[in-house]
Amino acid sequence: MDTEIVVLRILHILAGVFWAGAAVYLALVLEPKLRSLGDEIESEVLRAISKLNSLWITLSAIITIAAGFALISRTPGHSFGELFDSGWGTAIGIGLVASLLAFFLSGWVGANTAKLRRALLEPDTMAALQPLRTRIVIGSRINAVLVVVAVGTMAAARFV
Ligand code: HEM
Repeated sequence: MDTEIVVLRILHILAGVFWAGAAVYLALVLEPKLRSLGDEIESEVLRAISKLNSLWITLSAIITIAAGFALISRTPGHSFGELFDSGWGTAIGIGLVASLLAFFLSGWVGANTAKLRRALLEPDTMAALQPLRTRIVIGSRINAVLVVVAVGTMAAARFV
């Protein structure tokens, strides 16, 4: 048994599943539900969870990406030179680009969520809320699509 590959794959898949699941759950369930409950509840919940969300999502994304790079160089029969140069390399390359875009986009959504959290505490900043909410809704939906693309391309890579 190749222990190194097995450990890397478990780390990569566990962290990736957490990252992708959290991104889809936030965009499809939590974020729309929270908006519909009113400013006061939204503010309370954001204060309770938004820093934790950022911490766990950033950590899982870093582990996924780092283990993913290690897997590219260590998966038997494959290498970095193959990225975008074979069926496997193209699938992994698309997943890699989608993951990096999702990583930076989720940082941007997190920064806007932090601004919204602060704006909700100040009554005279109501006008600023809408543009922030629009950025969060659009950003988190694109983010969810990107992580789904990443999971799909990774899962298909061996068979294309
Ligand atoms: C949201 C992000 C990601 C998710 C959810 C994800 C998920 C997965 C899954 C489920 C597999 C197992 C596929 C299989 O064995 O059939 C896999 C394999 C792999 N992933 Fe990812 N991945 C992500 C990002 C990345 C990134 C950023 C890289 C590169 C830096 C990467 C590189 C790889 C490699 C090289 C494999 C091994 C493919 C093989 O064994 O043929 N992944 N990934």
